[in-house]
Amino acid sequence: MEGDAMMEGTRDAAEPADFGAQPAATGPASPGGAGRAARAAQRRAFAGRYALLPLRLFLGATYGYAGLYKLADSHYLAGAGDPQSFYAQSLAAKAHSPVGWALAPALHQPTFFGLLIAFGELAVGLGTLFGLWGRIAALGGAVLSLTLFLTVSFNISPYFLGNDLPYLMAWTALVLAGTPYLSVDGFLAGRAERDRRRGLDEEAVRRRTVLDGSIAAVALGGAGLLVGSLTATFVRRKPKAGTAAPSAAKPVGGGGPKASVAVADVPVGGSATVADPGSGDAVYIVQPRTGQYCGFSAICTHAGCTVNPPKNGQFSCPCHGSAFDAATGAVITGPAVKPLPKYTVTKDGDRLDLGPLQS
Ligand code: FES
Repeated sequence: MEGDAMMEGTRDAAEPADFGAQPAATGPASPGGAGRAARAAQRRAFAGRYALLPLRLFLGATYGYAGLYKLADSHYLAGAGDPQSFYAQSLAAKAHSPVGWALAPALHQPTFFGLLIAFGELAVGLGTLFGLWGRIAALGGAVLSLTLFLTVSFNISPYFLGNDLPYLMAWTALVLAGTPYLSVDGFLAGRAERDRRRGLDEEAVRRRTVLDGSIAAVALGGAGLLVGSLTATFVRRKPKAGTAAPSAAKPVGGGGPKASVAVADVPVGGSATVADPGSGDAVYIVQPRTGQYCGFSAICTHAGCTVNPPKNGQFSCPCHGSAFDAATGAVITGPAVKPLPKYTVTKDGDRLDLGPLQS
């Protein structure tokens, strides 16, 4: 049955080596012992055959979701005025990437390249999930991960805090193994094997396999294009009020209790921590130069980790390596692209009071 072939795929050709097998017993074996050994060998072979299936499903689903997420994000193609846009992130990456020069075309045609990446991720995700031209899809995923590693997360230290390098390694495993089981590739390979046994010549078998694979690719690509276009048209999220541009200063805590620290607790170059009475978020009150006080949100604008207190004139984020200027809050090193929100601080005798949020 053809369905069975899809399940089995190229089982014979791709049977994994049974590295865990025990040496054969030299003495006489009981029938029960031989049965148990055979079942154990079958279990090991089954586990080896499907070992990469969870990874494949995860990568396929994640890349498909990542593509749709970008298409549904109103900031993604917003352009230079929006710090969360593809353009602004490419501009920030250009300043720190070892291949920053390669980003020039993306900065000239940000809409085209932004859509190319979003639909590319969607295509890679669908090809991987369905196991259609699995090696090519995995190669596409590896290229995307390598591009993101070199442009976005290259400066993250230590390197294991960035996630693009692990994705690159995971895709490499699928490039090597392909998608021979529970996949369209497996179905086509199984059918080709039966065609050979029926006596069909090799050229005819190859033509049939390539033609049917191409038809499936066009159908799946068309479905992806349709879903992506519908997502971009109807599901695109509206920007929250006040996120596209800095809002006017507003009082902290709405007239509630003030956050304050003793002047003596904030040395030049150092900081003291208070909580924003409105949100409860941590805020560093700093003195970058003698007699000059201000406050900065301790929440990293990349993904919400708490940045470390200022050291050597910088706030550093322990999650992905962003660094911010301790005097202005400006981004020194990405992946963050937005500065830390800044607060006014007023001196009242020997106390420093946290004032309004400026941006
Ligand atoms: S750099 Fe990613 S959360 Fe700070």
